[in-house]
Amino acid sequence: ESLRAFIHALPKVELHVHLVGSAGIETVLALARRHREAGVPTGRAELERFFTFRDFDHFLRVYWAVQSMLKDRHDIRTLVTGLAAELARQNVRYAEVTVTPYNHILDGMPGDELLAGLAEGRAAAAERGVELAWCFDIPGEKGVRAGRETVVFAVRERPEGLVGFGLGGPEVGVGRAQFEPFFTAAREAGLHSVPHAGETTGPATIWSAVHDLGAARIGHGTSCTADPALLDYLAGQRIPLEVCPTSNVRTRQVGSIAAHPVRRMLDHGLVVTLNTDDPPMFGATLEGEYLAVATTLGLQPPELARLAKNAVHSSFLDTAGKSALL
Ligand code: ADE
Ligand code: ZN
Repeated sequence: ESLRAFIHALPKVELHVHLVGSAGIETVLALARRHREAGVPTGRAELERFFTFRDFDHFLRVYWAVQSMLKDRHDIRTLVTGLAAELARQNVRYAEVTVTPYNHILDGMPGDELLAGLAEGRAAAAERGVELAWCFDIPGEKGVRAGRETVVFAVRERPEGLVGFGLGGPEVGVGRAQFEPFFTAAREAGLHSVPHAGETTGPATIWSAVHDLGAARIGHGTSCTADPALLDYLAGQRIPLEVCPTSNVRTRQVGSIAAHPVRRMLDHGLVVTLNTDDPPMFGATLEGEYLAVATTLGLQPPELARLAKNAVHSSFLDTAGKSALL
């Protein structure tokens, strides 16, 4: 009805979406049939069951299985254009997309193939009216070697549209501080720090993302509400959170959208943005995130427009780019 129409009409920005996690069922089926050795289900019903996560670790195993099937620039371009078509359908005009070069290169894709696929996909997206930018992130579970190689690759290649430098993967047992030198180097090269923190661990990880990694935004930040001093700090510094409500429910970090701390974040005056993380894997869309939050928290259109504006202001677009979306 009219709420849906209102949400659709908002010019939207997505700040937290993983390229590999944006692969839809059709794309994954095609890849699975081409790369049977990966062991990903090649039947639709079976694949849908595979996509039903028991917990965060199961989610990461599915993600890595899809990842392992990406072999060349055509696979990458297919992912990017598939994501862009979906963004265009939802009137999402701009997205900062997380790419994990270390994983692709580890799985045998030459760096040049990856960059070519990204560039081709980005050009095709622009033709559809969707502007894409990139965040290259460290797969934290692979340690400091992955950190070093990711920053070297990012700074050396500096592809057009690269704006952010991140850190993903599991947080448990993967301290943020060990990656400090790589974030320092990335920031010195002009990239913005956008680590995941507080998705699966407590507020200490968010503090570390701020103090050790110089976070310009926090990926998720779900656990910040457990620490009043942290809430005050994030509000005072106006450090945006990339909140991904459906993702958090699907990986069982929170029980339901109604139980999600996003309400307390908003009550505390934090700069909240809504995001999808790994949309088809979580059965999420950006419009769906706005709708879910609106209906469970009773947000009115002006408050939804505020959330959309938060994302524009929190993006790394230049002033002209932001103005065009406000
Ligand atoms: N990689 C892809 N999605 C992720 C998430 N939600 N958290 C950490 N790493 C990820
Ligand atoms: Zn994420």
